[in-house]
Amino acid sequence: MKKNIAVINGDGIGPEVIAQAVRVLNAVAERYKHQFNYTYCLMGAGAIEQTGNPLPDETIEICLNSDAILFGAIGDPKYDNNPSAKVRPEHGLLKLRKSLQLFSNIRPIITYPAVQHLSPLKETQLEGVDFIIFRELTGGIYFGKKETSPDGTQAIDESIYHVSEIERIAHIAFQNARLRRKKLTLIDKSNVLETSRLWRKVVQEIAQQYPDIAVNYMYVDNAAMQIIINPKQFDVILTENMFGDIISDEASVLSGSLGMLPSASYGVCTALFEPIHGSYPQAAGKDIANPIGAILSAAMMLDYFQMHEEANRVRQGVSWTLQNKFFTKDIDPINFYFTSTVGELISDYVIHKITDEVNQENVELRKSTII
Ligand code: IPM
Ligand code: MG
Repeated sequence: MKKNIAVINGDGIGPEVIAQAVRVLNAVAERYKHQFNYTYCLMGAGAIEQTGNPLPDETIEICLNSDAILFGAIGDPKYDNNPSAKVRPEHGLLKLRKSLQLFSNIRPIITYPAVQHLSPLKETQLEGVDFIIFRELTGGIYFGKKETSPDGTQAIDESIYHVSEIERIAHIAFQNARLRRKKLTLIDKSNVLETSRLWRKVVQEIAQQYPDIAVNYMYVDNAAMQIIINPKQFDVILTENMFGDIISDEASVLSGSLGMLPSASYGVCTALFEPIHGSYPQAAGKDIANPIGAILSAAMMLDYFQMHEEANRVRQGVSWTLQNKFFTKDIDPINFYFTSTVGELISDYVIHKITDEVNQENVELRKSTII
């Protein structure tokens, strides 16, 4: 199969982790005889520096003409502490989501036994945690009217949702629940917010079309607590933009490292795949970031291309590196492997250059080619 992929490295560690995701995609192409063509484009702080615009039109054009988009990370400390900055790297990402109508953001929360000890939660609470967050991505408070009064003493962020925006993502979440443990939790704040009451009404109506799915409703404050005290209870979570942003960061700590979680954003005509971690500027250029979030995002892209065997092979490669303790610095600050080594190991695994059996002595030497 031939696919055109738009690649946006973005800021901070973005270029390093994306380089490893591309390396793994190239391994997939080699092993399964596919052709992946990459077109690199700008977005974020780097784009502001080079063009004055966090999302140049050319990037939108390239993305629209691609089969999928692979994206690294966005954000730069230069803008974080400057609330009056006129242009911000994040504006680029928000505009891209809106321009491409990437309304459905999917964040699977998986735990790996090999790294469970890194989670602040007890290991017994983490066994078997496996849920998936469907976050609405192009509406709500992120995209409503924003205003500051002329004297600068008051600010407004409006949150708007239309029934159709709720329906389209709700159907996707219900359909996904059918393929899983058949449970869907809507997270809202319907005791306070009008938009949340609309979400609840629409989801209750849609639920009638999915009698096989057990639906429950939870206020976001309670959900924030439940994700910590009993994360196993969740299967599919459906929620609006802002709540999804917050609870997905919260849920990511269950996995032990934020660096390992992927995400996908599906739209009307294309889809974007990105690790959920940020740009981690302190680590940029040091070859120490965890590339697994980016590599698993590439696996989600392969699933989107209907290349399920290929996607599973990549996931097996990731599990294999974790089982054999090829950890990056976020997981093991003392005996760590570099970003590029972990990427190389996973690519080698994908093309069967290395077998499941690992020679522990060679592992100590940290050289994938001799394993
Ligand atoms: C995310 C990020 C973004 C968001 C930022 C970078 C604008 O936190 O993808 O979760 O808030 O959606
Ligand atoms: Mg976020």
